[in-house]
Amino acid sequence: MPFPNTKATEFEERFAAFQDARFGICVVNGAAALEVALRAAGIEAGDEVVVPAYTWVATALAVVYLNAVPVFADIDPNTYCMDPDALAGAVTDRTRAVIPVHLAMGIADMDRIGQIAEQHNLAVIEDCARMHGGRWRGKGVGSIGDIGCFSFQSSKVMTSGEGGIILTNQTELAQRCQSLVNCGRKEPGYDSFDGWMLGWNYRMTEFQAAVLLAQLERLDDQTRLREENAAYLSRRLEEIGGVRPLVRDPRATRVAHYEYLFRYSSEELKGLLRDRFVEALIAEGIPCESYNFLAHRSPLFALKASQYPEARRRYGEEFDPKQVSCPVAERVAYHEAIYLHHPMLLGKKQDMDDIADAIIKIKTNVHELL
Ligand SMILES: Cc1ncc(COP(=O)(O)O)c(C=O)c1O
Repeated sequence: MPFPNTKATEFEERFAAFQDARFGICVVNGAAALEVALRAAGIEAGDEVVVPAYTWVATALAVVYLNAVPVFADIDPNTYCMDPDALAGAVTDRTRAVIPVHLAMGIADMDRIGQIAEQHNLAVIEDCARMHGGRWRGKGVGSIGDIGCFSFQSSKVMTSGEGGIILTNQTELAQRCQSLVNCGRKEPGYDSFDGWMLGWNYRMTEFQAAVLLAQLERLDDQTRLREENAAYLSRRLEEIGGVRPLVRDPRATRVAHYEYLFRYSSEELKGLLRDRFVEALIAEGIPCESYNFLAHRSPLFALKASQYPEARRRYGEEFDPKQVSCPVAERVAYHEAIYLHHPMLLGKKQDMDDIADAIIKIKTNVHELL
């Protein structure tokens, strides 16, 4: 079976066009998409790559996989995406790339990140695993930096169980990505054995591509509904006090709402701890979670210095998360962030009212929980 076959080719073309990119390359999952993107961008052992501290661990581990060095940048307290000032402060003469993550309700400031990247000649790899359909000043995410990486894992707003896609506007990067996911073959196809680089088998199946083609059909309608419900819920939360929605950057002209993230202030609920509040909200029938999303504190960020000698240079024999200081991300992770998963935003206005009313009930009766 040639790769990409008819369904994968069609999906690559349609999804790339949907996000305003020239090329799409289907791949097994979002983590592999990041790894391939970094390789295609020429990242090598010892190079430093700046990633936000607040992200799923794969953003940072893709860098470690190449024996390159992830450097953690703090986040903006309003959007929870990478703070461009923290990026500027993290750049050294070894920095070669930056991976801004578009975190579900916010899009990283691609204007400033782009300027800083240009100034220091950094590749920009957008992690769009949670931002299908997102637009920054009207332009599709994943087509703004050099490469964009999406995931279609089972929790995402578009899914084929597992899966991913890489987008780019640059012919050479597209060719390199194609080869890297297709065992090094120079040309797309399966019976072609003309190799030109070390590649691996990260190919997507036709079954997955067929499922994704169907999912793409409904994405616009679902995104619209999530946007409407999220805007209404944000208005309600603002009236309550003690909980606040994230601040929407007006340049983020469309967001996916993979999660509805909001900010909790325990001071405004008489000191009730965030995790206790989450338990109470769940008890009121509202599924939600606190959001401890620090890549460098994840138990999965298990660096073995002997296997990753370049990371050892920066982080020592035993990686100690305490040596990374990102105070905003830490406050957000341990005290502030709460999320509702995207299917909840496909409900009716009444469902949003139920969420807001449950929060009011907890706030009114907070003394019983203290
Ligand atoms: C921000 C982010 N980056 C990368 C990934 C990796 O994607 P996958 O699970 O498809 O490997 C995820 C998946 O959850 C993610 O949320």
